[in-house]
Amino acid sequence: MAKQFDVIVIGGGPGGYIAAIRAAQLGFNAACIDEWKNDKGGPALGGTCTNVGCIPSKALLQSSEHYEHASKHFADHGINVSGLGLDVAKMLGRKDSVVKQNNDGIQYLFKKNKVSFFHGRGSFVKAGADGYEIKAGEETITGKHVIVATGSNARALPGVPFDEQVVLSNDGALRVGAVPKKLVLIGSGVIGLEMGSVWRRLGAEVTVLEALPTFLGAVDEQIAKEAKKAFDKQGLKIELGVKVGDIAKTAAGVTVNYTNAKGEAQKIEADKLIVSIGRVPNTIGLNPEAVGLKLDERGAIVVDEECRTSLPNVWAVGDVVRGPMLAHKAEEEGVAVAERIAGQHGHVNFNTVPWVIYTSPEIAWVGQTEQQLKAAGVQYKAGTFPFLANGRARALGDTTGMVKFLADARTDEILGVHIVGPMASELISEAVVAMEFRASSEDIARICHAHPSLSEATKEAALAVDKRTLNF
Ligand code: FAD
Ligand code: NAI
Repeated sequence: MAKQFDVIVIGGGPGGYIAAIRAAQLGFNAACIDEWKNDKGGPALGGTCTNVGCIPSKALLQSSEHYEHASKHFADHGINVSGLGLDVAKMLGRKDSVVKQNNDGIQYLFKKNKVSFFHGRGSFVKAGADGYEIKAGEETITGKHVIVATGSNARALPGVPFDEQVVLSNDGALRVGAVPKKLVLIGSGVIGLEMGSVWRRLGAEVTVLEALPTFLGAVDEQIAKEAKKAFDKQGLKIELGVKVGDIAKTAAGVTVNYTNAKGEAQKIEADKLIVSIGRVPNTIGLNPEAVGLKLDERGAIVVDEECRTSLPNVWAVGDVVRGPMLAHKAEEEGVAVAERIAGQHGHVNFNTVPWVIYTSPEIAWVGQTEQQLKAAGVQYKAGTFPFLANGRARALGDTTGMVKFLADARTDEILGVHIVGPMASELISEAVVAMEFRASSEDIARICHAHPSLSEATKEAALAVDKRTLNF
């Protein structure tokens, strides 16, 4: 007889593993099926995020930033380094061990919360009287509720499949064994900028080719402009408005033909090519047809606001459904769905999902951009404060960028906060909390912030909304 569960989660990334843990916490008999394999063929829980996404990219961003500091910035602090060297194999090894700590951590959490784990592919078999019959690797199990959290895959350019040796997705981009002399990235989105930064810091000559004429179109224009200035200064070459043509592999690497923004034909040769043009929802092997689970034209599982699919008691969360492809969005949806199954009021506020690009300077934002407010005809007030006028940023030696507040002109409610600068990833949390509590810019302006700290720039930007900054 097939093992029976209250909740079966297919996919062990941030959406899936968190949903399984929350379901178990709520008293359900929960199972999670995940097929990711480590290099020994064993399980590697955590999905894209842990294995080839958030975690390894941040490990390499940290290592490469240390290297850049040692090679370029230590001297400003009176620290002279001689014989500086780079051991890429060790750097990659450290990244792998950070990944493994996270994989093992999730296995431990499953044991602690009594989540049953099945290593292998999960696929729908049929809907029956006891719920849904699911193939879990070699076993067949049944569940009253099913949560699909099968994530996404990198999008390839038509006719240019990833070989992960020369033409790299995010996976290969995190495993390049030696610093390429020349690296081309297609797409100047989040991965293009993060991975471009890693390899530029380590010494590669990096060119990023972007189809759109605007740099980081989803980011507040003023912030994107400031970020672009910083990347230009660092030597990260970003070409906007290009049309990528033929791509040919050569003995030395790859040749990319493209038309630049002026319409001129160009050719660029590189050792490696990273294609970072977005990701596609993944339902490979899920067998949604067996139960009639509805997908949209992009291949995403169709869900309502509350992550209900077209089938009763089947839910879907994370990258495989609509909305931003972010780990924390997947996690919030996973928690909310487990709580809804328990009859509670799970809640995800899409307006307060923060975004972070972990470059240097970091870029982080929450809520509306100035261009969105203008387009919607909203009356707003804006306040900015530069890190140049922040004591802690000067002490750090990192004064690039600013904090920007956008508040409703009538009520002063915070509508958006945008940061480019040091530790923007951490600073944005204050804005998220404030917006979740529907705070006004005055609320932040009147809160005592520690001195000297980068967070004082947040307070000052809130003060700037009413043109009363104290330190600028
Ligand atoms: P995934 O993490 O993709 O997990 C899905 C899991 O399901 C995988 O383990 C997969 O093997 C498994 N699976 C799929 N189908 C089946 C099946 N049929 N049976 C069994 N198992 C199956 N987001 C951030 O918020 N911050 C970041 O800093 C960040 N950095 C990123 C860097 C890179 C390079 C990339 C590529 C992504 C990054 N992301 C980041 C995005 C983030 O990784 C995703 O949004 C997140 O992983 C989505 O979680 P998920 O649970 O929906 O899917
Ligand atoms: P992206 O959507 O961020 O950027 C893709 C870029 O490629 C866009 O600017 C797009 O205009 C461009 N593009 C598309 N087709 C093109 C073409 N043919 N030629 C040239 N340019 C083209 O996608 P990316 O960078 O692949 O990342 C995927 C997703 O992963 C992100 O959207 C994000 O959700 C997630 N992610 C999140 C991170 C974070 O939170 N720090 C880090 C990395 C990824």
